[in-house]
Amino acid sequence: MSIAEKFATMEYGPAPEDAKEAITWLDRHGRRFGHFIQGVWQNPIANEYFDTVDPSNGDRLASVAQGSATDVDAAVKAARTASPKWQALTPHVRARYLYAIARQIQKHSRLFSVLETMDNGKPIRESRDIDIPLVVRHFYHHAGWAQLLEQEFPEYVACGVVGQIIPWNFPLLMLAWKIAPALATGNTVVLKPAEFTPLTALLFAEICQEIALPGGVVNIVTGDGSTGEGLVKHPDLDKIAFTGSTEVGRAIRAATATSHKRLSLELGGKSPFIVFDDADLDSTVEGLVDGIWFNQGQVCCAGSRLLVQESVAENLIAKVRDRMSSLRIGQPLDKAIDIGPIVARVQLDRIRKLVDQGVAEGATCWQPQTALPTGGFYYPPTLLSNVHPTSIVAQQEIFGPVLATMTFRTPREAVELANNTVYGLAACVWSESINVALQTAAQLKAGVVWVNCTNLFDAACGFGGYRESGYGREGGREGLVEYLEPKWFKSAPALPAAKAPEATASDKHPEASVPAIDRTVKLYIGGKQARPDSGYSMEVRGRDGRLLGEAPLGNRKDIRNAVEAARKADGWARATAHTRAQVLYYSAENLAQRRDEIARRLAAVVGEKQAAAEVDLGVERIFTYAAWADKFDGAVHNPPFRNIAIAMHEAIGTVGVICPAEAPLLGFLSLVMPALAMGNTVIAIPSESYPLITGDLYQLFDTSDLPGGAVNIVTGYASQLLKTLAEHDDVDAIWCFGDETQAAAAKSASISNLKQVFTNEGRAIDWFNPKVAEGRWFLEHATQVKNIWVPYGE
Ligand code: NAI
Repeated sequence: MSIAEKFATMEYGPAPEDAKEAITWLDRHGRRFGHFIQGVWQNPIANEYFDTVDPSNGDRLASVAQGSATDVDAAVKAARTASPKWQALTPHVRARYLYAIARQIQKHSRLFSVLETMDNGKPIRESRDIDIPLVVRHFYHHAGWAQLLEQEFPEYVACGVVGQIIPWNFPLLMLAWKIAPALATGNTVVLKPAEFTPLTALLFAEICQEIALPGGVVNIVTGDGSTGEGLVKHPDLDKIAFTGSTEVGRAIRAATATSHKRLSLELGGKSPFIVFDDADLDSTVEGLVDGIWFNQGQVCCAGSRLLVQESVAENLIAKVRDRMSSLRIGQPLDKAIDIGPIVARVQLDRIRKLVDQGVAEGATCWQPQTALPTGGFYYPPTLLSNVHPTSIVAQQEIFGPVLATMTFRTPREAVELANNTVYGLAACVWSESINVALQTAAQLKAGVVWVNCTNLFDAACGFGGYRESGYGREGGREGLVEYLEPKWFKSAPALPAAKAPEATASDKHPEASVPAIDRTVKLYIGGKQARPDSGYSMEVRGRDGRLLGEAPLGNRKDIRNAVEAARKADGWARATAHTRAQVLYYSAENLAQRRDEIARRLAAVVGEKQAAAEVDLGVERIFTYAAWADKFDGAVHNPPFRNIAIAMHEAIGTVGVICPAEAPLLGFLSLVMPALAMGNTVIAIPSESYPLITGDLYQLFDTSDLPGGAVNIVTGYASQLLKTLAEHDDVDAIWCFGDETQAAAAKSASISNLKQVFTNEGRAIDWFNPKVAEGRWFLEHATQVKNIWVPYGE
């Protein structure tokens, strides 16, 4: 082609990146890899291997070990053995190791980029300019956290040994997101890379050797889902961190429900990309290219649902089609390529099937006339319009270069459409009006909102989801908390098992109760006293066996009513933090005023001394959370772009709280108050040993200007009510502070919609010790961080 012809077509010539070094590295290993355990390569016990291939041509790159349960066990043992020494190192020494890892990856960054592109298929431009630089930044940033750990988290220790499972879409970046914070906080790890993309993790293992990281601190076991399953089930792990599909996330929730393993889940998404009519449409189109065609759309936070204001829809779609026609598809090692192959045949088939289904459901499919390369797993950029909000392509994660388009008329409709999903990972808002953009960002249920930008990540800014996109954050301070535990927690003794509820036959009908009863209370729902649906009550007896009164036996219907009331009280979350603090202070004042009568009644169950302490410390505890209400706020991060990221602490939503049996008043206040202070609404099941406390509590709330529905109290048998509460789809989190069986029941019953669960793991908490029973640990569980990224400059 002559220069004149080239000038006319503006066609690029091929610009392939040299793969020589990567090939030499593969050859040096004989294109066959074992596991990396205890700092050395180890052959798999069963001697089984599988191939990893180049998705651009299907060629075998290498064979890697298929990890068996025995291999996983060896890796966990190595990590466990290495744990005490690694934890005992000074923060500075750990910081140096992380720093050395960052430096070493930086020195070999081109090798990592090429290998990543060969194994995954992502364009070299992306692995070279995005993935690997972010990996390096992640290790540098966390070297800093390791250095500051003792100053910043003096009351916390490492979880211990962590099992980590990562997906194939950002292989090395996901490894960095997992390993850097774990090591910085003093944990040791066993990581399983995805079966389609194990190579950069194995190269990383070599980096660990090169910097002389102590053996066993990082172990890499390769294999497929069954290896992952084996890791999740291993009894000697303290935590599992997973990124991948919601389906597997749910399976992991189920597999860990009866264990004490901590869990963080970064799962799927169906993120909205909202375009208002005042948006700069040309920038928006470029944003969309990054939003949905970056990494072939195989991105958990891909802007896969385009929601565009009706008045500009036609204009925007025309521009999008135009731009799609100029996207270059081809060999991913070519530096001028925008779109490479899909990671594997099975993923390609999944994309095709979902698009076909969408079309069958009425969507119109448009693809540019670009020829696809032959031989690899290529799929063209695809635009689906006329998509109905309930269509499979509007609801399900496709994980491919497919954009589903819908329109809206008003900002309110945009928010409704955007939130009409079980997911909540990310969202984009495009508008030149800062008011419209930030107002929308605040209303979106998503862990990250990009305003006039998309798919930006930084180690300082936590990333993670709301709802079925999982929980826990990666990056930032909140990401570290996922790998830490309060010092006292590990050694806290187990609570004795709770008494099984007595048979209902012994429960008395209210009408049949003995006339000499001291007190009868009702349920407290929506700010009103309510009779229980069942019409049954439970007897409440004092320490001496004396009948103190009766409390209603709440049932499923009562829980449902309470959840409805809590959902309706969403004004509480919108109240200013100052207002919430005032209401809490007011309730402390009212509790102090009624100190003697409440203590006198409580004394019949817990004795005079404890009763007095519960009321006095209860007043203090409310003060603590009134104080925190306007102080446990977010941060403003300065990522290394022309952006600020506003990290907002948002309420989780509606929280179901199973209160501890052993301190009926103080336990209730220790859990309900932090949840309330942060703007959550609550359904509380008070202590079974003294549910009559409900009467005192509702008087307290009624006289303290707490809006009806912000707190709802349903008395009854915790083990029965817990199930309904945990299963309810409109409850966003479940806090359960009972015995071990109850903790497991709370986790098991809330698997279906992946609720956040906060439990004491059946351990005793000293509610009378403020160092243990109040503060950040509770506040962290009462909030989730939303990062709103806002660019500045022209
Ligand atoms: P996946 O969730 O099956 O795989 C992710 C990781 O989990 C891999 O390392 C895999 O070996 C492991 N794994 C699989 N089954 C496991 C089990 N039972 N226990 C423990 N570990 C297990 O994802 P897959 O099948 O590769 O992709 C399927 C769909 O998942 C994609 O189409 C996409 O929609 C979604 N996905 C979402 C990702 C995200 O970052 N949110 C990443 C990868 C996939």
